[in-house]
Amino acid sequence: MRTALVPTAALRPARTVARWAVRHGLPAVYLARGARRGDPLGRLLRDRAVRDEPHALYEQLRSRGPLTVSSLGLVTTSHAVASEVLRSEHFGVGWDRSAAPGLIRWALRFGDELDAMGVAEPPSMLAVDPPDHTRFRRLVSRSFTPRATADLEPAVQRNADGLLDALERTRGPVDLVETYAAQLPVLVIADLLGVPVERRAEFLRWGAAAAATLDPGLPFRRYAGAERSLRAMHVFLREHFARLRREPGDDLVSRLVVLPEEEALTERELHAMVMLLLGAGFETTMNLLGNAVVLLDAHPGQRAALSADPSGWAGAVEEVLRHDSPVQITGRTPRTDVDIGGRRVPAGTHVTVLLGAANRDPEVFPEPARFDIRRANARDHLAFSGGIHYCLGAGLARLEGVVGLRALNERFPALRVSGRPVRRDLTTLRGFAHLPVTLR
Ligand code: HEM
Repeated sequence: MRTALVPTAALRPARTVARWAVRHGLPAVYLARGARRGDPLGRLLRDRAVRDEPHALYEQLRSRGPLTVSSLGLVTTSHAVASEVLRSEHFGVGWDRSAAPGLIRWALRFGDELDAMGVAEPPSMLAVDPPDHTRFRRLVSRSFTPRATADLEPAVQRNADGLLDALERTRGPVDLVETYAAQLPVLVIADLLGVPVERRAEFLRWGAAAAATLDPGLPFRRYAGAERSLRAMHVFLREHFARLRREPGDDLVSRLVVLPEEEALTERELHAMVMLLLGAGFETTMNLLGNAVVLLDAHPGQRAALSADPSGWAGAVEEVLRHDSPVQITGRTPRTDVDIGGRRVPAGTHVTVLLGAANRDPEVFPEPARFDIRRANARDHLAFSGGIHYCLGAGLARLEGVVGLRALNERFPALRVSGRPVRRDLTTLRGFAHLPVTLR
């Protein structure tokens, strides 16, 4: 390639611009235009107030039918359509780059650089179709079986207890996200992946940056900041892989770096895999914990019921996942023309799946806006998606939810939200950035 003659570092700023332009700049133009015309998806992705409280907008969209036109293709709020799209073999997460206009193809090639790769970019498991998806998932699924997950319970409990011990020593209000909801998942996934827990403050920073890049249409400055964090994460991963190749431990990543030749991942695949596991492992679960604390604080009767009968925690976690889903949005594209939701969807049309809206579909969940930890079918939610990309860590997330919330409630039965919780400035992921509480 002609660009190889120029030192790589000198091209970096131009590459950053190219990457931003294709992944964020262009969608931003469509979204801004849509938002001006009142397009709900445009407003959801661009208006902070809508983002913080998206349910009124979801209902507006629902009233237009199960599958409607938006500034980024089609969009669904329907549980039935969402389930069908996610499970259909006609839909995939990849898209045919060869069909893109020449300039976009050039920008994608020019901007392509391992060290700037985000969590949802190929070859991340989240962003590839079979057969690659099947190959990647098979390599790691052994660590997430129900048995393997159950074996982690003592470690989750130990980590929760350690954090609660530290909280015991504090006086006055604390930020529960900073001290507990973000810390517990990062400690658990760090154990599982054999990454040094001392660096968890950096993981949290990098994870937040990776999470921001999931929202299409990021302004340039925010994207460039996120990319710096992604680069730091890849530098860490490279050092981590080198260390584990020298001194393998008894963890998932140690197994991945020494796979036999016929199964071995390329360097890029390895980065994509571990980055996804690390990011997905805490960026979502911290939201589950924070959302749960706020919902239970607003429903003291239900919280009292859980204190009286802790066997209810599993149901409570499902209802939190349904009512205030940590992942609000995903999407799929059909490979061929398909009929779905009462309309013909041409091949290549992106379908945005609003998981948070599907989880409030009155066809499936009576009185969907009501928070009820005893809701009989709460577990029918799509908070963990569906089909072949169904969350690999769902069992672990549920375990962390139950153990983490039960332990918190037992240790601090008088905990109260003591100030205004602040939502994270994100659309795809939904959770709190700050959650002030008094513990006693
Ligand atoms: C409450 C916590 C969590 C929620 C709500 C959640 C949600 C999701 C969702 C919605 C997807 C699929 C997205 C799509 O279909 O496009 C997904 C995929 C995934 N999640 Fe989770 N997740 C959580 C926790 C975890 C944990 C603890 C891990 C552990 C490593 C994890 C690892 C993954 C992986 C690897 C995938 C990709 C699976 C694939 O593409 O086959 N997640 N998650």
